[in-house]
Amino acid sequence: MQDNYNREIKYLRISVTERCNLRCRYCMPLDGVCKKSHDEMLTYEEILRVSRVAAKLGVKKIRLTGGEPLIKKDIVSLASDIKKIEGIEELCITTNGILLNEYANDLKNAGVDRINISLDTLNAEKYKYITRIGEFKDAWAGIEKALKLGFKKIKINTVLIGGFNDDEVVDISSLTLKYHVDVRFIELMPMYDSGDFKENAFIKASIVIDKLKEKYGNNKITEINDIKHIGQVARLYKIDGALGFVGLISAVSNHFCKECNRIRLTSDGKLKPCLHSNEEISIKGLSEDEIEEKFKMAILHKPKQHDELSYTSRSHADRNMNQIGG
Ligand code: GTP
Ligand code: 5AD
Ligand code: SF4
Repeated sequence: MQDNYNREIKYLRISVTERCNLRCRYCMPLDGVCKKSHDEMLTYEEILRVSRVAAKLGVKKIRLTGGEPLIKKDIVSLASDIKKIEGIEELCITTNGILLNEYANDLKNAGVDRINISLDTLNAEKYKYITRIGEFKDAWAGIEKALKLGFKKIKINTVLIGGFNDDEVVDISSLTLKYHVDVRFIELMPMYDSGDFKENAFIKASIVIDKLKEKYGNNKITEINDIKHIGQVARLYKIDGALGFVGLISAVSNHFCKECNRIRLTSDGKLKPCLHSNEEISIKGLSEDEIEEKFKMAILHKPKQHDELSYTSRSHADRNMNQIGG
């Protein structure tokens, strides 16, 4: 279905839980336990109900997010049931990878097509610092497992943080030379509570290309303008000879609202027309017909674009990222 700005809404992101087995500093507070009661959260059947409505209204791609989706019990059967819905052509998942070594096989069998994995550093100590509690080796084992199983595409998401990992840009990008992965650098988004990062942490994704050109030479870095990549949130580049792309998600410096094709569902049952707005439309406890009305309303309430984000003007979404799902 089209919104009021001629954008075809084809992509639903479902956050299946706010809970997470990590505590990334830019995403959630240390004591980030979900304070909502079980009754406030969507049931398994409700998630399927929304997915069916979405498919009926023209959604073709669903992504399961969190918090961390793999800590939700029944995630594998949920994936499998969603994949069976007529009209859903692609089922994807965004995970921190910690449990992927254990789950990747079952997810593949359940019909998950693509996996995006968050990884902000290649250094074990820094990994522990940024995630507060995570082990790099667990995330890496998850990535290796997913690679071995041959998913259609694996993307690594790296939140670019000045003073933390800007010195690793070349190393992280060079994963695309060795493995069949895309690496995407995401500008740090100032959310409701995205840690106590100072202004210098918010850097432009374009520095990645400057650093790659410095390392490999201008003519070894090519921008990809190919039509089949239009509509993705990342601007894509390739290092000569690489197996995958390096992408820039300039969520702050150059928003991509004009091409936005998505709608979000939170684990407590709110449809979010826009990542950075506080408008939420509740579908908890509703019938399939009622959800359809709300879903159409959410699409028609998509704003033309969100307000500018910066260090001093934070996202208007009154939630942390773990409560939205990215
Ligand atoms: P693909 O299906 O592989 O294109 O995945 P994706 O980029 O849509 O999903 P993923 O969960 O990997 O998200 C990557 C990053 O992009 C996350 O940090 C999201 O918060 C960010 N992102 C996704 N959609 C939007 C959006 O509509 N606006 C903004 N500003 N950021 C977004
Ligand atoms: N800014 C940018 N990206 C973020 N993510 C979580 N919080 C933020 C933030 N404040 C990213 C995660 C994950 C994706 C879904 O969202 O690293 O890869
Ligand atoms: Fe968990 Fe992902 Fe948030 Fe890190 S970014 S705390 S892995 S939901």
